[in-house]
Amino acid sequence: MRSVKPELILACVAGALVLAGCAAGGGGMAAKTASGIPLGMTGPHEVAALPDRPKFGRPISEADIAPWNIDIRTPDGLGLPPGRGSVAEGKTVYDTKCIACHGADAKGGAMFGTMVGGIGSFTTNARVLTPGSMYPYAPIIFDYVRRAMPMDRPQSLSANEVYAVTAYLLNLNGLVPAGAVMDAASLTAVKMPNRDGFLIDDRPDSAATRCMSNCN
Ligand code: HEC
Repeated sequence: MRSVKPELILACVAGALVLAGCAAGGGGMAAKTASGIPLGMTGPHEVAALPDRPKFGRPISEADIAPWNIDIRTPDGLGLPPGRGSVAEGKTVYDTKCIACHGADAKGGAMFGTMVGGIGSFTTNARVLTPGSMYPYAPIIFDYVRRAMPMDRPQSLSANEVYAVTAYLLNLNGLVPAGAVMDAASLTAVKMPNRDGFLIDDRPDSAATRCMSNCN
């Protein structure tokens, strides 16, 4: 038996789609099926011609992107905004805007488990994932909270409030003193206990070089 080349089958499928497209858009020029009904019709009534092109979306402006373009390069803090906040100020933010879901002293509440402790627990079966035990870089807390918390009102905190509540969470985890003030520089300087706990995936089949400019 003669084998049919796969590329030939693909070409035929593409041809059929083009034909159907012409039929739907072309009104009177519609191709006919074997039964005589023009393609793109289910019965004797004409279907409305499709518009020239779909009216999906619109070009996005820099101003549209700006509120979402807030990522931080967490190892060196690039992208952290100006501002500052103390542990004490952070407790006020926390007790007003976070406690309902995360509980007193971030030890767990109605919506989420503890956000303190667990440091060093990863080598045991009872590992406890918290920002203190898991995050390799302190600016991750800032980035996460600014982007996503409070869960019911994300992006409602000022930069100062996010710095403050980040300082408070770090203090509850024993990673900064009670008098600490966090800003872009001091937050980046906090060494997280799990900084070296993540492995680089160096399997040969997963190797990929990241392209950062002029990528096609
Ligand atoms: C309406 C409930 C709610 C409120 C209010 C809230 N959170 Fe959350 N938070 C959650 C939930 C639910 C998660 C888990 C989300 C997930 O895993 O996708 C979470 C996750 C987090 C995490 C990640 C914890 C981890 O182990 O990685 C942090 C940090 C956090 N919240 C901080 C805050 C802070 C700070 C506030 C106050 C400014 C706050 N949250 C207010 C519900 C809330």
